[in-house]
Amino acid sequence: MGEAVKILAETLEDVVSNGDRPAGANGPMSRPDGKPGSIYNKYGGWPFFQRIIFELYVELVDHPEISYHFVGVDIDRLSRLQAEFLCQAIGGPEKYQGRPIAPVHNPMGISQFQFSVVAKRFAQIFKDNGLTNEEVKIIMDFVGSYQSSIVTRKMAFIDRIMKPFYEMVYRFRRTLRSKK
Ligand code: HEM
Repeated sequence: MGEAVKILAETLEDVVSNGDRPAGANGPMSRPDGKPGSIYNKYGGWPFFQRIIFELYVELVDHPEISYHFVGVDIDRLSRLQAEFLCQAIGGPEKYQGRPIAPVHNPMGISQFQFSVVAKRFAQIFKDNGLTNEEVKIIMDFVGSYQSSIVTRKMAFIDRIMKPFYEMVYRFRRTLRSKK
Protein backbone atom coordinates (compact mmCIF):
# COMPACT_ATOMS: atom_id res chain seq x y z
CA MET A 1 0.00 0.00 0.00
CA GLY A 2 1.39 3.42 -0.94
CA GLU A 3 2.17 5.93 1.81
CA ALA A 4 -0.60 8.30 0.66
CA VAL A 5 -3.15 5.49 0.84
CA LYS A 6 -2.03 4.53 4.33
CA ILE A 7 -2.36 8.07 5.63
CA LEU A 8 -5.74 8.52 3.96
CA ALA A 9 -6.97 5.13 5.12
CA GLU A 10 -6.15 6.16 8.70
CA THR A 11 -8.24 9.28 8.34
CA LEU A 12 -11.23 7.48 6.80
CA GLU A 13 -12.71 6.66 10.18
CA ASP A 14 -12.33 10.27 11.31
CA VAL A 15 -14.06 11.54 8.21
CA VAL A 16 -16.98 9.17 8.50
CA SER A 17 -17.40 9.22 12.28
CA ASN A 18 -16.67 12.90 12.95
CA GLY A 19 -20.05 13.85 11.55
CA ASP A 20 -18.41 16.21 9.05
CA ARG A 21 -21.48 16.20 6.90
CA PRO A 22 -23.74 18.86 5.46
CA ALA A 23 -26.78 20.10 7.37
CA GLY A 24 -29.80 17.92 6.83
CA ALA A 25 -27.84 14.75 6.12
CA ASN A 26 -28.56 11.76 8.28
CA GLY A 27 -26.05 10.58 10.84
CA PRO A 28 -24.79 7.00 11.03
CA MET A 29 -27.39 5.99 13.65
CA SER A 30 -30.44 7.61 12.12
CA ARG A 31 -32.60 6.48 9.23
CA PRO A 32 -31.74 7.86 5.79
CA ASP A 33 -33.74 11.00 5.23
CA GLY A 34 -33.62 11.17 1.45
CA LYS A 35 -36.44 10.71 -1.03
CA PRO A 36 -38.55 7.61 -0.42
CA GLY A 37 -37.50 4.80 -2.78
CA SER A 38 -34.25 6.54 -3.75
CA ILE A 39 -30.86 4.86 -4.24
CA TYR A 40 -29.68 7.14 -1.43
CA ASN A 41 -32.17 5.69 1.08
CA LYS A 42 -31.80 2.10 -0.07
CA TYR A 43 -28.12 1.98 0.94
CA GLY A 44 -28.32 3.93 4.18
CA GLY A 45 -27.71 7.47 2.94
CA TRP A 46 -24.78 9.77 3.69
CA PRO A 47 -22.42 7.47 5.68
CA PHE A 48 -22.52 4.79 2.96
CA PHE A 49 -21.95 7.13 0.01
CA GLN A 50 -19.40 9.30 1.75
CA ARG A 51 -17.37 6.22 2.65
CA ILE A 52 -17.40 4.94 -0.94
CA ILE A 53 -16.46 8.31 -2.40
CA PHE A 54 -13.64 8.67 0.12
CA GLU A 55 -12.37 5.20 -0.82
CA LEU A 56 -12.55 6.18 -4.48
CA TYR A 57 -10.28 9.17 -3.87
CA VAL A 58 -7.91 7.04 -1.80
CA GLU A 59 -7.47 4.97 -4.97
CA LEU A 60 -7.25 7.95 -7.30
CA VAL A 61 -4.55 9.78 -5.33
CA ASP A 62 -2.38 6.70 -5.72
CA HIS A 63 -3.28 6.08 -9.36
CA PRO A 64 -0.23 6.50 -11.62
CA GLU A 65 -2.16 8.38 -14.29
CA ILE A 66 -4.44 10.54 -12.18
CA SER A 67 -2.49 11.22 -8.97
CA TYR A 68 -0.63 14.28 -10.24
CA HIS A 69 -3.92 16.19 -10.48
CA PHE A 70 -4.42 15.82 -6.73
CA VAL A 71 -1.09 17.13 -5.49
CA GLY A 72 -1.78 19.63 -2.69
CA VAL A 73 -5.55 19.02 -2.78
CA ASP A 74 -7.45 18.57 0.50
CA ILE A 75 -8.94 15.12 -0.10
CA ASP A 76 -11.26 15.20 2.94
CA ARG A 77 -12.85 18.37 1.60
CA LEU A 78 -12.94 17.10 -1.98
CA SER A 79 -14.51 13.77 -1.10
CA ARG A 80 -17.12 15.52 1.05
CA LEU A 81 -18.02 17.86 -1.82
CA GLN A 82 -18.11 15.00 -4.32
CA ALA A 83 -20.33 13.00 -1.95
CA GLU A 84 -22.70 15.98 -1.58
CA PHE A 85 -22.74 16.38 -5.35
CA LEU A 86 -23.60 12.73 -5.93
CA CYS A 87 -26.05 12.38 -3.02
CA GLN A 88 -28.02 15.37 -4.22
CA ALA A 89 -28.44 13.58 -7.57
CA ILE A 90 -29.58 10.23 -6.13
CA GLY A 91 -32.26 11.46 -3.77
CA GLY A 92 -30.31 12.71 -0.75
CA PRO A 93 -31.18 15.86 1.21
CA GLU A 94 -27.65 17.30 0.82
CA LYS A 95 -27.08 20.56 -0.97
CA TYR A 96 -23.85 20.68 -2.98
CA GLN A 97 -21.75 23.49 -1.52
CA GLY A 98 -18.81 23.39 -3.91
CA ARG A 99 -17.89 25.48 -6.92
CA PRO A 100 -19.28 25.01 -10.45
CA ILE A 101 -17.71 21.96 -12.12
CA ALA A 102 -16.34 23.45 -15.37
CA PRO A 103 -14.22 26.32 -13.96
CA VAL A 104 -12.78 23.99 -11.29
CA HIS A 105 -11.69 21.33 -13.82
CA ASN A 106 -10.87 23.27 -16.97
CA PRO A 107 -7.47 24.61 -15.81
CA MET A 108 -6.39 21.03 -14.96
CA GLY A 109 -6.20 19.93 -18.61
CA ILE A 110 -7.96 16.63 -17.92
CA SER A 111 -7.83 14.31 -20.92
CA GLN A 112 -10.58 12.10 -22.32
CA PHE A 113 -8.52 9.07 -21.37
CA GLN A 114 -8.09 10.26 -17.77
CA PHE A 115 -11.81 10.92 -17.48
CA SER A 116 -12.58 7.39 -18.64
CA VAL A 117 -10.04 5.94 -16.16
CA VAL A 118 -11.86 7.80 -13.35
CA ALA A 119 -15.29 6.83 -14.68
CA LYS A 120 -14.25 3.14 -14.71
CA ARG A 121 -13.11 3.35 -11.09
CA PHE A 122 -16.37 5.10 -10.19
CA ALA A 123 -18.44 2.31 -11.73
CA GLN A 124 -16.31 -0.45 -10.22
CA ILE A 125 -16.37 0.85 -6.66
CA PHE A 126 -20.17 1.06 -6.66
CA LYS A 127 -20.44 -2.46 -8.10
CA ASP A 128 -18.03 -3.72 -5.46
CA ASN A 129 -20.23 -2.16 -2.77
CA GLY A 130 -23.33 -4.02 -3.92
CA LEU A 131 -25.24 -1.59 -6.13
CA THR A 132 -27.15 -3.24 -8.97
CA ASN A 133 -26.09 -2.73 -12.60
CA GLU A 134 -29.13 -0.52 -13.13
CA GLU A 135 -28.21 1.68 -10.14
CA VAL A 136 -24.59 1.90 -11.26
CA LYS A 137 -25.84 2.98 -14.68
CA ILE A 138 -27.90 5.80 -13.12
CA ILE A 139 -24.80 7.02 -11.28
CA MET A 140 -22.64 6.69 -14.40
CA ASP A 141 -25.16 8.62 -16.51
CA PHE A 142 -24.87 11.37 -13.91
CA VAL A 143 -21.06 11.28 -13.93
CA GLY A 144 -20.98 11.08 -17.75
CA SER A 145 -23.22 14.13 -18.07
CA TYR A 146 -20.28 16.21 -16.73
CA GLN A 147 -17.75 14.88 -19.20
CA SER A 148 -17.86 17.91 -21.49
CA SER A 149 -17.46 20.26 -18.49
CA ILE A 150 -14.39 18.35 -17.28
CA VAL A 151 -12.46 17.10 -20.31
CA THR A 152 -10.40 19.73 -22.13
CA ARG A 153 -8.07 17.59 -24.23
CA LYS A 154 -8.17 14.37 -26.15
CA MET A 155 -4.91 12.90 -24.97
CA ALA A 156 -2.17 13.97 -22.55
CA PHE A 157 1.48 13.04 -23.10
CA ILE A 158 1.44 10.99 -19.89
CA ASP A 159 -1.52 8.96 -21.26
CA ARG A 160 0.60 7.71 -24.13
CA ILE A 161 3.36 6.55 -21.81
CA MET A 162 1.11 5.01 -19.19
CA LYS A 163 -1.71 3.46 -21.25
CA PRO A 164 -0.09 0.05 -21.90
CA PHE A 165 0.85 -0.13 -18.21
CA TYR A 166 -2.74 0.44 -17.01
CA GLU A 167 -4.12 -2.09 -19.41
CA MET A 168 -1.79 -4.64 -17.86
CA VAL A 169 -2.75 -3.59 -14.30
CA TYR A 170 -6.49 -3.72 -15.07
CA ARG A 171 -6.15 -7.17 -16.63
CA PHE A 172 -4.22 -8.36 -13.59
CA ARG A 173 -6.81 -6.92 -11.17
CA ARG A 174 -9.68 -8.49 -13.11
CA THR A 175 -7.95 -11.88 -12.96
CA LEU A 176 -7.39 -11.52 -9.20
CA ARG A 177 -11.02 -10.50 -8.66
CA SER A 178 -12.34 -13.45 -10.66
CA LYS A 179 -10.27 -15.81 -8.48
CA LYS A 180 -11.71 -14.47 -5.18
C1 HEM B 1 -10.18 12.72 -14.57
C2 HEM B 1 -11.24 13.09 -13.87
C3 HEM B 1 -11.20 14.05 -12.72
C4 HEM B 1 -10.12 14.62 -12.07
C5 HEM B 1 -8.64 14.39 -12.32
C6 HEM B 1 -10.66 15.53 -11.09
C7 HEM B 1 -9.90 16.30 -10.23
C8 HEM B 1 -10.38 17.18 -9.32
C9 HEM B 1 -9.58 17.99 -8.43
C10 HEM B 1 -8.05 18.00 -8.36
C11 HEM B 1 -10.41 18.75 -7.69
C12 HEM B 1 -10.03 19.75 -6.58
C13 HEM B 1 -9.98 21.13 -7.13
C14 HEM B 1 -9.59 22.16 -6.06
O1 HEM B 1 -9.68 21.89 -4.87
O2 HEM B 1 -9.21 23.25 -6.45
C15 HEM B 1 -11.77 18.41 -8.11
C16 HEM B 1 -12.90 18.96 -7.57
C17 HEM B 1 -14.14 18.48 -7.78
N1 HEM B 1 -14.51 17.53 -8.72
FE1 HEM B 1 -13.27 16.56 -9.97
N2 HEM B 1 -12.03 15.50 -11.12
C18 HEM B 1 -12.40 14.60 -12.11
C19 HEM B 1 -13.66 14.23 -12.45
C20 HEM B 1 -14.78 14.61 -11.78
C21 HEM B 1 -16.11 14.10 -12.02
C22 HEM B 1 -16.45 13.04 -13.06
C23 HEM B 1 -16.94 14.76 -11.16
C24 HEM B 1 -18.43 14.65 -10.97
C25 HEM B 1 -19.26 13.97 -11.66
C26 HEM B 1 -16.13 15.66 -10.37
C27 HEM B 1 -16.61 16.46 -9.37
C28 HEM B 1 -15.85 17.30 -8.61
C29 HEM B 1 -16.38 18.14 -7.54
C30 HEM B 1 -17.81 18.17 -7.06
C31 HEM B 1 -15.31 18.87 -7.04
C32 HEM B 1 -15.32 19.91 -5.89
C33 HEM B 1 -15.37 21.31 -6.45
C34 HEM B 1 -14.85 22.32 -5.44
O3 HEM B 1 -13.69 22.23 -5.04
O4 HEM B 1 -15.61 23.22 -5.05
N3 HEM B 1 -14.84 15.56 -10.78
N4 HEM B 1 -11.72 17.47 -9.10
